[in-house]
Amino acid sequence: MERIQSAISKAREARRALDPQGPATVAADPAATSEARPAAPQERAVEAWSGLMEFRPNEHVLERGRVVSLTSNAASVPFDSMRTRLLYLIRDKGWRRIAVTSPGPGCGKTTISLNLALSLSRLADVRTVLIDADLRRPALGKTLGVSARHQFSDVLAGKADPARHLVRIGDSLAVGTNCAAVPNSAELLQSPNAQHALDLVEETYQPSLMLFDLPPMLVNDDALAAVTLMDAVIVVAAAGASTAAEIDRCEQELASRTNVVGVVLNKCRYLDKSEGYGYDYH
Ligand SMILES: Nc1ncnc2c1ncn2[C@@H]1O[C@H](COP(=O)(O)OP(=O)(O)OP(=O)(O)O)[C@@H](O)[C@H]1O
Ligand SMILES: [Mg+2]
Repeated sequence: MERIQSAISKAREARRALDPQGPATVAADPAATSEARPAAPQERAVEAWSGLMEFRPNEHVLERGRVVSLTSNAASVPFDSMRTRLLYLIRDKGWRRIAVTSPGPGCGKTTISLNLALSLSRLADVRTVLIDADLRRPALGKTLGVSARHQFSDVLAGKADPARHLVRIGDSLAVGTNCAAVPNSAELLQSPNAQHALDLVEETYQPSLMLFDLPPMLVNDDALAAVTLMDAVIVVAAAGASTAAEIDRCEQELASRTNVVGVVLNKCRYLDKSEGYGYDYH
């Protein structure tokens, strides 16, 4: 952990040496965001949730995808603690839309988004909506085992009702998956239709938070396009795969567009037992 932090600091110093002015860092104003959004759940939101199609995940499918947080157990502990920190932050800052991205592919964004969402779903007073926003390579539905042909991108495009493409797990988690890749995904993610669709989901379901499984940052511009819709973002780095310079570049680019919650270091093979399932967070 200390090593990665010191490596990130070194990469930052190296970048500053090259560009002493540095890029401007403008954090979004969370107060302005929260003010515009209703907070208290209303009767019609309860009805809207109960009207969603229920999905019961299969334990074996979840296990295959390293999804361990459906129930509380030793493996879910790191996600439960991530959940606690995130809830504290979103309540404190008034954030609602939280994205998950990474520098390169395969760092564990989908696995972590899903585990975090399932961990949140065990809290009765917290409503969570998890959206697959990796529109070029949607994987959330497969990891979760959703076989119905849902296409949440149609909701983002303003072509479908959210209720048709969200499934409910338990009473307080709704998941929007995609069964097919979407052409022009960056354009869709930046479109007014996508903004309106997310506003509509918030208004209808009044979630405590929305989580978005994004594509990796350094592969195409989809993630950067999507973060403009977000209040904050979590960066997932993979130990041994993501370099400190890549993590720093991501943090820097993201911080100029939204709030960065922190970096989750995933796939750590040599963590202390007390640190659990190979995740570390700063
Ligand atoms: N902590 C971990 N330890 C070992 N393997 C892991 C861990 N987390 C995720 N994986 C595995 O790594 C692979 C990639 O994970 P995942 O699909 O969640 O990454 P991703 O960042 O969403 O990838 P992509 O960029 O393709 O969307 C999967 O096979 C997943 O099961
Ligand atoms: Mg993924």
